[in-house]
Amino acid sequence: MASNDVQTGKVSFDDIYDQPDPRAFFRTLSGFDYQIPEHGSAAFAFLARTLRTRRDRGPFSVLDLCCSYGINAALLNHDVSLADLYARYASAEIEPLTSDELITADRAFYAERRADPLPVIGLDAAPNAIAYAVETGLLAAGSSENLEEHDPSEELKSHLVDVGLITVTGGIGYITEATFDRLLGSATVDDPPWIAAFTLRWVDMEPIRSMLARHGYRLEVLRGRTFRQRRFADDREREHALAQLRRLGIDPDGVEADGYHHAELYLARPQAEADADPVDELLSPIL
Ligand SMILES: C[S@@+](CC[C@H](N)C(=O)[O-])C[C@H]1O[C@@H](n2cnc3c(N)ncnc32)[C@H](O)[C@@H]1O
Repeated sequence: MASNDVQTGKVSFDDIYDQPDPRAFFRTLSGFDYQIPEHGSAAFAFLARTLRTRRDRGPFSVLDLCCSYGINAALLNHDVSLADLYARYASAEIEPLTSDELITADRAFYAERRADPLPVIGLDAAPNAIAYAVETGLLAAGSSENLEEHDPSEELKSHLVDVGLITVTGGIGYITEATFDRLLGSATVDDPPWIAAFTLRWVDMEPIRSMLARHGYRLEVLRGRTFRQRRFADDREREHALAQLRRLGIDPDGVEADGYHHAELYLARPQAEADADPVDELLSPIL
């Protein structure tokens, strides 16, 4: 189960990230009212629709970083909510299944509920989670390469060719500017993807901002709205988060003081696109 990370004060859920199926992930995180994938997929669906209408390009795929068991892909492309998934993976019907049986059942479950055919490529350092997401059909392709440490393989690069939107929920911090640098260094230059990342408020985005600028991107944040990520796991985590925010000059009153970690939505676009289209207007439907 969860343990406190000595350096960040944040509870670690590492032991649920690389299981053969997502039951432990959903059961554990539902207990903390984990909700960032629900906020994320709603915003990503909006951005994908916007990209379809504004860019003169053919079909594109989404690259979901730190995709885990394909949760954003499940919510983005299927008629299911996060509450549906929490109920499914806690149900008595699912409980006795082996992981292989659950994968077979989930393949049918998601196929019956498929709504949007946006192909999602998933990247996560957890190979079992990626295998589950590919086998159930949630991901069109997946990779467990760690771009914090290595350049992408030729196989992964071949999947990046059609990426129009890069998404992240719950992943910034695990991945840093190093992953973005390696990704953008190998992406097709003709039509650089947009990048949408939900990031906890206390995370310092400056290293990512300056690295993205070197690749010709402008990183902007949606002002006027924060998104609940999950409840603080315990008092220690809460105190640590509030102290960290105050240290950075960020007022937690009316936000984290409600007992939840809060994230902000960052959007990075190529400079010219960002100049032509102010982020506040673009994202106003999400406010
Ligand atoms: C908090 S979970 C977020 C999962 C999912 N995106 C969500 O919102 O529920 C963090 C994920 O980051 C993954 N991760 C950790 N280090 C990584 C790395 N270097 N590259 C890619 N993924 C990584 C973990 O395996 C885990 O699945």
